[in-house]
Amino acid sequence: MAKGNSFLSHKLHSLLGLFPIGLFLLFHLTANYQATRGAEAFNQTVGLIENVPLLLVVEFVFIYIPILFHAVYGLYIAFQAKQNVGNFGYFRNQMFLWQRVTGIITLIFIVWHVWETRIQKAMGVHVDFDMVANIFSSPAMIVFYTIGIISTVFHFSNGLWSFLVHWGITVGPRSQRVATYLTMVVFVVVTFIGLRAMSAFIL
Ligand code: HEM
Repeated sequence: MAKGNSFLSHKLHSLLGLFPIGLFLLFHLTANYQATRGAEAFNQTVGLIENVPLLLVVEFVFIYIPILFHAVYGLYIAFQAKQNVGNFGYFRNQMFLWQRVTGIITLIFIVWHVWETRIQKAMGVHVDFDMVANIFSSPAMIVFYTIGIISTVFHFSNGLWSFLVHWGITVGPRSQRVATYLTMVVFVVVTFIGLRAMSAFIL
């Protein structure tokens, strides 16, 4: 790939990871969290989302197309096997590796999750609390979703750290250390929201 194109693709890949994909992830998990208030609250949230005007267009522009680009270019980056160019320590190099590993796990998870929910809906299945509870009636699915949620949230939180570096927001070692702690808090809080939301469909 020509150098200029590669630079722009990298920037776009990085930006999309946060806006809109990361924001969508937060919105999606918060919406699912409504299930902790009962089946009725969750079904009402689903109803509100389904009433968004031009929902399919919104989904394509803000979710499907950005994720498709981020995932395809992400796979290209992950398999380029390029070593970490920055002069970071052992911890950051491990995080760099896990960013790639979780990218691949997250991709497998998203493809399955979209098939099981959004594509089923397009084929006429009614999406509500009972439909999701039915998915989690399988212990294998609980394990799969637990791994998928942790992987996706790790990828997002650690990605937030590298986003701040890539866009020149955290430049020095001190600000990067502070960002490490902040993104760890993001990881713990968002993982809790995701897993707690899932548990509401099981109990
Ligand atoms: C909900 C889904 C996803 C979210 C929220 C997300 C978010 C992010 C964020 C915020 C970054 C940091 C960008 C930066 O370093 O400037 C990132 C990086 C990355 N993402 Fe994703 N991502 C998602 C899915 C995926 C998928 C499915 C793949 C496919 C393998 C992937 C592969 C990558 C790779 C390889 C990087 C590192 C880029 C680099 O170091 O230059 N991501 N992601």
